[in-house]
Amino acid sequence: MAKKDPDKSVEKHYQKLITEIEQHDYQYYVMDDPTITDAEYDKLFKALQKIEAENPSLVSENSPTHRVGGKALDSFPKSRHVVPMLSLANALEPEEFIAFDERAHRFIEAKPEARLEYFAELKFDGLSINLTYEDGVLVRAATRGDGEVGEDVTQNIKTIRSIPLRLNTKNPPRRIEVRGEVILFIKDFERLNREQADKDEKTFANPRNAAAGSLRQLDSKITASRPLKAFFYGVGAVEGFTMPKTIAEYEDTLKDWGLPVGKHHKICKGSDDVLKFYKQIEGIREDLPFEIDGIVVKLNAFSQQETAGFVARSPRGMVAFKYPPKKTYTMVEDIQVQVGRTGALTPVAIVTPVSVGGVVVRRATLHNQDEIDRKDIRIGDHVVIQRAGDVIPEVVEVLKNKRRGDERRFKIPVKCPVCGSEAVREKNEAVTRCTGRNCTAKLKERVKHFVQKDAINVEGLGDKIVDLLVDKALVKKLPDLFDLEFDDVRTLEGFADKSTHKLLNAIDGARNPELYRLIYGLGIRHVGEATAKLLAQKFKSMNKLATTTVEELHEIDGVGEEMAGSIVEFFEDRNQQKELSLLLDRVTPIEPKAATGPQVLLGKVFVLTGTLPTLGRSDATKLIEEHGGKVSGSVSKKTDFVLAGEEAGSKLDKARELNVRVLDENEFKKLLQKGLS
Ligand code: IVH
Repeated sequence: MAKKDPDKSVEKHYQKLITEIEQHDYQYYVMDDPTITDAEYDKLFKALQKIEAENPSLVSENSPTHRVGGKALDSFPKSRHVVPMLSLANALEPEEFIAFDERAHRFIEAKPEARLEYFAELKFDGLSINLTYEDGVLVRAATRGDGEVGEDVTQNIKTIRSIPLRLNTKNPPRRIEVRGEVILFIKDFERLNREQADKDEKTFANPRNAAAGSLRQLDSKITASRPLKAFFYGVGAVEGFTMPKTIAEYEDTLKDWGLPVGKHHKICKGSDDVLKFYKQIEGIREDLPFEIDGIVVKLNAFSQQETAGFVARSPRGMVAFKYPPKKTYTMVEDIQVQVGRTGALTPVAIVTPVSVGGVVVRRATLHNQDEIDRKDIRIGDHVVIQRAGDVIPEVVEVLKNKRRGDERRFKIPVKCPVCGSEAVREKNEAVTRCTGRNCTAKLKERVKHFVQKDAINVEGLGDKIVDLLVDKALVKKLPDLFDLEFDDVRTLEGFADKSTHKLLNAIDGARNPELYRLIYGLGIRHVGEATAKLLAQKFKSMNKLATTTVEELHEIDGVGEEMAGSIVEFFEDRNQQKELSLLLDRVTPIEPKAATGPQVLLGKVFVLTGTLPTLGRSDATKLIEEHGGKVSGSVSKKTDFVLAGEEAGSKLDKARELNVRVLDENEFKKLLQKGLS
């Protein structure tokens, strides 16, 4: 049957939904002030997805459904900027800024006593990006690259919810290049690093690297999972639009169009005003939710920018007025070894205390033996350390010309420094791990992980108290936490009657965590919060998860081989089994609801293959399971349906061979609505 054109009323409804979702995205992601609940938002989003699935010809370039990421790329296409992206000259001290101001007077032929009008704003520490909007629609996004040609990261940029896919104006420019910076907030950077560490994956040295690493993912679904933000301040090519006269007005225009712009800026009259702003921002730098490395000072009038012209590849009408970097020199006095939750031994440099960006630093991480060897860090070395966010600083470089010859090399011990058990480094691994079963260092970290906010969340049970509980042998395994008595806690240093009650109540209050939090809290290697959620959704009970197999785990989209192996290994361990059983006597997790939809697929077995137009694998699995069906990994005679998308592989051939019914996404959705008939 030929596809009918969607009727006009559907199209109208579709456009209205897009506009509505855009407005809510703006409220939520730019204004930080949502006007509807998440559930209401999800409903709108699902309605949009449904229309698109049923009317593929309607799908619009600026649809918010493109924000969840698309197919992975092999490489990024190149993209030439219409107007090149230049760089900025630096001023590292007030004197250098004054000199810039004096030069600016000459460039625009102003009288020496004239106080020039500058627009001063934050210098965001991220990576620069060039967005191209044509007739108001975001058509392309490219990284800076060499300034002339960057990489086309459109798909990835669309996953950043605060960036409008369509400008909020009735009269958009025919074409405009809008420039800004993609960043990661410090708290999101810290969270990402925690998640990466949980999964035994690479962590990032600072928010800028994390933002760059996240934006340059060939799989845009990964980018979509990272909460990137952006601020806009610049302009490249402009066609069919009369530009405002000043940068201040231009940024107001960007804001009106729905683009995020920085909140801290000032129109300054003369260099004194700029110096005041510079000091004022320096004072609040530590309180900002993101990192900045200075302020940028720009002649406010575009006409003056033009008159000032360029030198090398920098505009002469602007300057980056920088703050001292959060890097400094110090000396490695000693190297100690910390034992982590999974037994990983992490070498830590004890350094001569120094202030880095306003915070006194005494320790710096050295990551692992390979890093120590690569950077050739020795005890007694003078080093450069760097701090990002609240995470422990790292040693970035050794000043080898300062060596006197009595520096000592360091090797990770072969025994755990806390429990004395053998420490081993497995093949292909960078970390050495303590193998001790009763290592108190490991236990302390396990307990801290278990009670943290994202896990079972025992409020007020901080690191110091956990250390005390383990040191006094009041907690020898996780379940012991729930058996603590008043007198046990009351005798601990710093506890009075009231605080004891408070802690015991908080522990009591954590006896019914959501299942995924309990799974996450167990600290299974490679299982971060997101995986724990997938596992909870799939198994719906701890006992089912505990008896799973590698094969069954493989069926879950998002669970790889290493993860599956580590999950099964965890639950096969007799000690873990014992501990878990004791834990489940004390804790009753809230299990996700078994099924939510009408059971139209009861008992039916599905196999998924290829990429579906709108549904991710986990969405499809969820829908099938919610409607009573099951998802299996391979096609056999027992398979009832194969749900096939683009680039379906051998499973589709097998289905045809066995005469199994093949559905596309549309047919699948109809099946959910109408049931089997
Ligand atoms: S104006 C000619 N304003 O800093 C380039 N740049 O060091 C005009 N940056 O490449 C840039 N915040 O990526 C400008 N408020 C801001 C900025 C900013 C961060 C970055 C930008 C630029 C780099 C130059």
